Amino acid sequence: MLDWSDSKTVPAPIHPAFAAPTGDATGLGTIERGAARVTVDEKRMINARADVNQLLPLKYKWAWEKYLSGCNNHWMPTEVSMQADIALWKSKDGLTEDERRMLKRNLGFFAASESLVANNIVLAIYRHLTNPECRQYLLRQAFEEAVHTHTFQYIVESLGLDEGELFNMYREVPSITDKAAWALKHTQNLDDPDFKTGTLAADQSFLRDLVAFYVVFEGMWFYTGFAQILSLGRRNKMVGIAEQYQYILRDESIHLNFGIDVINQIKIENPQLWTPAFQDEVRAMLKDAAELEAAYGLDTMPRGFLGLNAALCEEYMHFIANRRCAQLGLAPVFAEADNPFPWMSEAMDLKKEKNFFETRVIEYQNGGALAWD
Ligand SMILES: [Fe+2]
Ligand SMILES: [Fe+2]
Repeated sequence: MLDWSDSKTVPAPIHPAFAAPTGDATGLGTIERGAARVTVDEKRMINARADVNQLLPLKYKWAWEKYLSGCNNHWMPTEVSMQADIALWKSKDGLTEDERRMLKRNLGFFAASESLVANNIVLAIYRHLTNPECRQYLLRQAFEEAVHTHTFQYIVESLGLDEGELFNMYREVPSITDKAAWALKHTQNLDDPDFKTGTLAADQSFLRDLVAFYVVFEGMWFYTGFAQILSLGRRNKMVGIAEQYQYILRDESIHLNFGIDVINQIKIENPQLWTPAFQDEVRAMLKDAAELEAAYGLDTMPRGFLGLNAALCEEYMHFIANRRCAQLGLAPVFAEADNPFPWMSEAMDLKKEKNFFETRVIEYQNGGALAWD
C-alpha cells in the first residue's frame, strides 16, 4: 500500500512565485503540495515560476483565441477531391514543363518544411515557452502541422509522385537545402539538452528561433510557396492542391500571428533582450531570408509563366519582409515595395463552406485506385 503521507517527499508549502529560481519549466517536476494558487500576475511567456499545468486563470487571451480559431478551422486533406488534379497531371499537355518543375519543387519544399516546423515546436519551443495557454495553442499547431504533412503524403499518393524524390528535396535541391539549413542553424542551440532560458544570451537564442521559424519559415517562405500554387489555381490548374494550400494558408496565417504575438509579449516582459544590436540582427535575418527566397524563386521558375516569375516573387518577399518588420516594431529592411499579388489577400479570406475555387467534395477516392493506362 502506498504511503501518501511520506513526509520525506513532500516539500514545505512555498508560494509559486518563489518556488524555484526559474520554476519548473516542463510541468513534470515534483508537485508542490499546498502551494498557493496561481494568479495571472505570476504567468510569464518565458522563465515563469508559476505552475505551467494551470491553464486557468488565463492571462494571454490572444493565445486562447488562436487555439479556438485553429479548432474552428479544422480540415483534413482527404476532404478535397484530387480528380481534376490527377487528370491534369497525367495528361501530356496539361501542364508545361516549367509548371511541373515549379510544382514539384514547391511540394518538395513544403513536404519537409512542415516536418521541420513541427519538430521545432515540439522539441524546442514547447519546452521553453512556460505558459499554459500558449502551450495549448502549440499542441493545436503541432496537430495542424501533422495535417499539413499528411497533405503532402496525400498529394504524392494521389498523383503517383516519386516519394523519395519529393521528401529528399530539402537535402538534394540546393535552393531548398539552403533555406532549411539557415533555419535549422537557429534551432540547434535549443537542441542542446543543457540549453535553458534565463540568461540574456539564452533568451536571445530563443527569440532567434522564434524569428527563424514563425516569422521567416511560416511568415515569409511559405507565402511565396502559397502564391506559386494559388497562381496555378487561379488559372484553373491543380485546383485540388490549390484548395488544400488555401486551408494551409489559413492555418499558417494564425501560426504566424501567434509567433508575432509571442515575440512581442516576450519583448514587453523582457525589454532588456530587445537591444538595438539585437533588432539589427533580426532585421538582418529577414534580409538574408528574402535573399535565400530570391534564389529559390529563380531555381523554381527559371523562365516564369503567366502572372508569376522570379522577379515578382522577389518583390513580394520585399513587401512581406517589410510587413513582418512592422509587425515586430522594426524599421523596414527594403525600400518601399508594392504587393505584386493583391489577390493573395482574397485567398486568405477562405470560408470552408464556400471557397475560392468553388470545388466540392464529391469523391474521397484517391488516385492510387485509378487506372490511367
Ligand atoms: Fe504547416
Ligand atoms: Fe505552421
